[in-house]
Amino acid sequence: MQVLTVVGARPNFMKAAPLLRRLRARGHGCQLVHTGQHYDENMSGAFFRDLGLPPPDRHLGVGSGSHAQMTAKVIAAFEPVVLELRPDVVVVVGDVNSTLACTLVCSKLLVPVAHVEAGLRSRDRTMPEEINRLVTDCLADLLLTPSPDADENLRAEGVDPARIVCVGNIMIDALRHRFEHEPPSDVVQRLGLHGDFGVVTLHRPSNVDEPAMLRSIMGALEAIGRDLPLVFPCHPRTRARLQQQPDPARVRLCEPLGYLDFTELVRRCRLVLTDSGGLQEETTWHRIPCITIRENTERPITVSQGSNVLAGTDPQRIQELARAALRRDAAGYRVPELWDGNTADRIVDALERWLAARARG
Ligand code: UD1
Repeated sequence: MQVLTVVGARPNFMKAAPLLRRLRARGHGCQLVHTGQHYDENMSGAFFRDLGLPPPDRHLGVGSGSHAQMTAKVIAAFEPVVLELRPDVVVVVGDVNSTLACTLVCSKLLVPVAHVEAGLRSRDRTMPEEINRLVTDCLADLLLTPSPDADENLRAEGVDPARIVCVGNIMIDALRHRFEHEPPSDVVQRLGLHGDFGVVTLHRPSNVDEPAMLRSIMGALEAIGRDLPLVFPCHPRTRARLQQQPDPARVRLCEPLGYLDFTELVRRCRLVLTDSGGLQEETTWHRIPCITIRENTERPITVSQGSNVLAGTDPQRIQELARAALRRDAAGYRVPELWDGNTADRIVDALERWLAARARG
């Protein structure tokens, strides 16, 4: 089969890499399209190298913009590419604007779409990603989910169970491959970190775009930083906002890190404080405590089974939960079923089965 995989933004790259590896190993044709939603060297180029991704067959070069502009640019640029490359199926991953835009194009062209990471719901429609998830899952033909709660969400929305396959979490394939096949990184030494430390990431518009909110969260991080040194690789959106605030004294800011460095940093840390989706999953796999600075999560299994706690944005609560997490015993944390490093193979199985059934009519 000829499979076209789409990537656009940083959290897509580690989901596409394991899939491309397994598709190739099993003799299928692979095409890769990068929409260019993320374009900086440290948001995109470094990830292609670190993850062993091949250069994309097409780069759409859409760049930044408002949600409507970005989505519209991807739609216009992706349509002729699909018509030219004529894949049997298009695989979209995650919940970024590129995921939604490419799904929409394929639906209108009657090209089958499979969505990896389907069924996650925060039930918060102020999040652009929630809109992307809802529309993508409504249109995609094959919904490949990471965990049973995602299957339940889809069934509750009336989705035909024949469209749903629980395949597990493909980010864990990338993590396992990284630690089993790639060299360790010296990032901890390079950053001059000694002893215990914590890792921070923040980039959600709801946390960083409003100066008072960002100041309040940074205040909590400064307080935690008194007991545990914190290092904060800064997303470009956050970096721009932090420039309008006083320099933090106890939180060490640095540039965004590549995949090998960042995964090493997280593996070696005592605690993560974040508003990222993927990090809630990666810390669950590592059994490292994660404080999620959001009111909700589309990944509740990381809270019910894993090491994640939802803190909201109240600075006092963030501090209390961080201190409590450092005292808790990691033995109680569980890694969800099918987060085992073999998800890409289950996806290839599902694609083969689905396309064969479709060919039979
Ligand atoms: C996007 C995704 C989000 C994901 C995040 C991970 C959507 C709706 N959002 O959000 O789900 O968690 O990526 O990083 O798709 N910028 C650069 N260089 C880049 C990319 C962005 O400087 O390579 C700057 C631009 O000023 C841009 C801003 O960062 O306006 C935000 O980027 P954008 O892609 O709009 O959204 P993210 O916040 O990165």
